[in-house]
Amino acid sequence: MGADIFTPGAQELIYGRKMMLTLEGYAGNSTIICGNLGGKPIPGFKTHKIITISGQKILITSIIDQKLEKKAIHGLKVKDPLASLNRILKIPHDLAIVVFHFSDKRARSLLEQTQGIDIAILGTQRGTMIKDKIVNGALLVKNNNHGKTMGYLDWDFTTKTATDNKLLQINKDTYAADKTAAALVDKHEKWLREHYIKLEKEKVENASTKETKTPYVGNTECVGCHPQIAASWKKTRHANAFATLQKKCKEYCPDCLPCHSTGSYAHDKKGFSSPATTPHLFNVQCEECHGAAQEHIKKPDQPYGNTINAGVCILCHTTNTDPDFSFPEDKKLIAH
Ligand code: HEC
Ligand code: HEC
Ligand code: HEC
Ligand code: HEC
Repeated sequence: MGADIFTPGAQELIYGRKMMLTLEGYAGNSTIICGNLGGKPIPGFKTHKIITISGQKILITSIIDQKLEKKAIHGLKVKDPLASLNRILKIPHDLAIVVFHFSDKRARSLLEQTQGIDIAILGTQRGTMIKDKIVNGALLVKNNNHGKTMGYLDWDFTTKTATDNKLLQINKDTYAADKTAAALVDKHEKWLREHYIKLEKEKVENASTKETKTPYVGNTECVGCHPQIAASWKKTRHANAFATLQKKCKEYCPDCLPCHSTGSYAHDKKGFSSPATTPHLFNVQCEECHGAAQEHIKKPDQPYGNTINAGVCILCHTTNTDPDFSFPEDKKLIAH
């Protein structure tokens, strides 16, 4: 895309270390930055970048919340953001810009504990369009709300203030005219879908029986003994989660499937692995909440099942995907 800097956030980390290792190859002239990624270094990843414009040194870094999408960060380690930030801010500069992949509230709390940041950009902010604010000397601004907006800012180095600062809406009315960009996105989406379908075909061709073995038996196994519950579940949106992806042409997309399927490997469970290998685990089925039922269907009189608390749900109903989620309220909507 020709951007100078790319700062992976919680949504990118979902792909895990394996995918991060491939990013360098796609980066072109842009720098991949994460200020507090720990563990084994990833080639191509830097903690910060200095861009010099008209003799002014602009220090840019990015930090990520170790609490966001925690369960999904497989193979990656996230270090204490504050310690990492303070280390980077010691590097001489005229302007310090930090991208916060944090909620608004947690970003503010971190800013209160840090000195010397000029501009803080919120990287995670679905559904919230908070007012810009100076927090502990830093201008806290929002940028792109899941691709719906783009931030614009003019900075005056003498007064150290923003002279112009606004959010540009990216929607059909303002941007549909750019047919080239639309065609690029369209082409990319089509390419991506074909790419995933091809990977699926390869999986089927190379599939060993070991791959498809899973202690998750699938919904059809429950209907016979729990007919009423099965009928009640059918009426919930959990039963349509896969159809939702199909409608969006995303039914092969590994970014979407983990939360629209049952017992996903991406969630460190041993159920859904891919459309080709575990097609019986589409949708958010019984076993997503109650646990793998292989033993239960053999010995129904034995105790079975997870204690169901908020933790079961927020694996998917995250601050990103469902900011208004309330366990007591939403539980009523799926009761059976
Ligand atoms: C062969 C019949 C049978 C099948 C198949 C079966 N169950 Fe059960 N299940 C039972 C019986 C019997 C009980 C205990 C009495 C009750 O609560 O209805 C039970 C209890 C449960 C409980 C409560 C367990 C507890 O300890 O309180 C859950 C949850 C459950 N089943 C889920 C499932 C799911 C999910 C499936 C499908 C993957 C399934 N069952 C398939 C017969 C079955
Ligand atoms: C594996 C991921 C996953 C888990 C775990 C999960 N959900 Fe969901 N939930 C979804 C998805 C995906 C949808 C949207 C499905 C669609 O419309 O296509 C959804 C939809 C819902 C809805 C409907 C939302 C609405 O406003 O109509 C409710 C209510 C809900 N879930 C409650 C819960 C509760 C309560 C739990 C925990 C006991 C839970 N979910 C666990 C993925 C999950
Ligand atoms: C982290 C888990 C998660 C991931 C990843 C995820 N979803 Fe969802 N999705 C949810 C949950 C939870 C809901 C239900 C939210 C609600 O409406 O309460 C949902 C709802 C939806 C809805 C229904 C929205 C509506 O109101 O009708 C669509 C469409 C959707 N997701 C598409 C996608 C697509 C496309 C992807 C991949 C790009 C994706 N999802 C990835 C968890 C997830
Ligand atoms: C989104 C999560 C979710 C899904 C999906 C789900 N359940 Fe449940 N189930 C619950 C919750 C919550 C309870 C209430 C008991 C509790 O709080 O532990 C419950 C209760 C039950 C019970 C009664 C257990 C008892 O203690 O009396 C059975 C049996 C059961 N579910 C079977 C099923 C079957 C069969 C399916 C699929 C057709 C299913 N559930 C799908 C969340 C879920």
